[in-house]
Amino acid sequence: MEVKIETATIKTLDKLYQLEGECFDQEAFTKRQIAYLLTDYNTIAFVAKADGDIAGFIIAQVEVEENTEFGHIITINVAQTYRRKGIAKKLLHEIEVLLKQKGINECRLEVREDNHPAIKLYHALGYQTIGKLERYYGTKHGLFLKKIL
Ligand SMILES: CC(C)(COP(=O)(O)OP(=O)(O)OC[C@H]1O[C@@H](n2cnc3c(N)ncnc32)[C@H](O)[C@@H]1OP(=O)(O)O)[C@@H](O)C(=O)NCCC(=O)NCCS
Repeated sequence: MEVKIETATIKTLDKLYQLEGECFDQEAFTKRQIAYLLTDYNTIAFVAKADGDIAGFIIAQVEVEENTEFGHIITINVAQTYRRKGIAKKLLHEIEVLLKQKGINECRLEVREDNHPAIKLYHALGYQTIGKLERYYGTKHGLFLKKIL
């Protein structure tokens, strides 16, 4: 299987929305939110194509706190049939490389505290749990993670 990472454009909106719905229920972004993200100038978004088929995607934003820019992973999704093939790892790597190229040295994200696959992925890639986010996902708690790039 050949996996290629490409910049996500608004043309992929329908497919990304479908994948977002398959991967999340209550927490899924709406189509309008994804469309906004894909067209916002602070957004970095990639799709992973497996033999030409969109198998996953990632959306991150560049944000600023106390005059320092950092990357913020907004969402990452890999279709069920393509999981455990290193696609999420590739997508995150690509975002981190781009952030570094922009001179950005930190990447942050939030994850539901019971999302063990995602937490394992982030820890494997060097993200550290910094704190807990009480009721960040409705009744469910979240974790706040950070990586120095
Ligand atoms: C989390 C998610 C993005 C992982 O995607 P993936 O392409 O399957 O992940 P990768 O194949 O790149 O996994 C890399 C490493 O992460 C860890 N990992 C990923 N999925 C895992 C799982 N189900 N159980 C345990 N560890 C897992 C492993 O360390 C894995 O390395 P290994 O396969 O060599 O053991 C995918 O499961 C998904 O889309 N989930 C639904 C959406 C979601 O929860 N997104 C994150 C929101 S914060």
